[in-house]
Amino acid sequence: MWIVRLFFILMVLFVYTGCDKLNSDPSEFAGSYDSSVWPATFGLGRVALAREIDSLNIDVRPDGEGLPEGSGTVLQGKHIYIAKCAICHGHTGTEGPYAKLVGAFYESDSIQRGEKTIGNYWPYASTLYDYINRAMPYNNPGTLTSEEVYSITAFLLYRNNIIDSTIVMDARTLPQVIMPAQKLFINDDRTGGSEIR
Ligand code: HEC
Repeated sequence: MWIVRLFFILMVLFVYTGCDKLNSDPSEFAGSYDSSVWPATFGLGRVALAREIDSLNIDVRPDGEGLPEGSGTVLQGKHIYIAKCAICHGHTGTEGPYAKLVGAFYESDSIQRGEKTIGNYWPYASTLYDYINRAMPYNNPGTLTSEEVYSITAFLLYRNNIIDSTIVMDARTLPQVIMPAQKLFINDDRTGGSEIR
């Protein structure tokens, strides 16, 4: 039994010294933090080259920032889509087997019916460029030229009844496309504090 008693005594001492520390002045412990100055470098790796950063810096923003030079048309896009996308998204963009890309926006509904598509859900056309450029074709991402991405983007916007078949897509025209679903999105304009629950 003595060992159980010893255990209890040690526990009481342990809790007591812990509380004591909590109640004491924090400045007492200031000297125990590591205040040594960090070195300018840890000697690991090397500085990234501008071209290496550029190859990763591919994001395109809703206002079009980040869109590359080049352009594409609906007709070119149709041919590329059939060759590189239709096998997974269907010839008309509706029949799969993977994600449905074409689908109407129902003006009368605030809540869209059925599967989400470019036409009924995507708030910005520029995101379409960004996503196709970085992630598609699913089995070979990063292989499309900017002309090809502009063209497929144009084709998919056309198939979703968002643009005319004659509009040429480039860094200037793409950000001007207003997506039908944009109005369904509400910007989070909370500034912090008590309104955040
Ligand atoms: C090998 C099959 C395959 C091919 C080829 C393919 N995709 Fe996809 N795609 C997918 C899959 C799977 C998803 C869903 C990915 C996910 O949710 O992470 C997808 C998702 C997408 C989406 C997003 C749909 C949404 O609303 O979420 C777009 C847009 C898209 N693909 C466009 C294309 C385009 C354009 C091409 C041709 C350049 C292409 N895909 C080729 C399989 C494919």
